[in-house]
Amino acid sequence: MDTPTLLAPLPLRGVTLRNRLVVAPMCQYSVTDGFVGDYHLVHLGRFALGGFGLVIVEATGVTPEGRISHGDVGLWSDDHVPGLARVVEFLHAQGAAAGIQLGHAGAKASSRRP
Ligand SMILES: Cc1cc2nc3c(=O)[nH]c(=O)nc-3n(C[C@H](O)[C@H](O)[C@H](O)COP(=O)(O)O)c2cc1C
Repeated sequence: MDTPTLLAPLPLRGVTLRNRLVVAPMCQYSVTDGFVGDYHLVHLGRFALGGFGLVIVEATGVTPEGRISHGDVGLWSDDHVPGLARVVEFLHAQGAAAGIQLGHAGAKASSRRP
């Protein structure tokens, strides 16, 4: 059997990625109170436009005190959902799958923005 190339689709249970190119989660330290907005729409959306199969949202705090820094994305409230949903809808519309890295930074949480 031939080895699949990076550009071959990748079925993962119920989702098939259009290729094997994945954007790793990358903290941007660029939001207030955990709310994503235009910055993340552009930052993550450009990867979908560029053809990545899967785009993973940066480490996202499940509690406010569990964020790496206070500039991190958050998902500890339903109020955070619309901003993230807007990004996901754009990624899907451009043919990319969306992922998210849920996190709690433990003892290293709640530091200042770098
Ligand atoms: C700007 C930046 C932000 C990053 N933020 C995260 C993060 O939120 N979560 C994480 O697990 N890794 C983070 N990383 C690490 C990357 O996910 C990745 O593991 C690292 O860049 C090495 O990737 P590579 O092994 O493909 O070279 C970050 C890396 C960079 C450059």
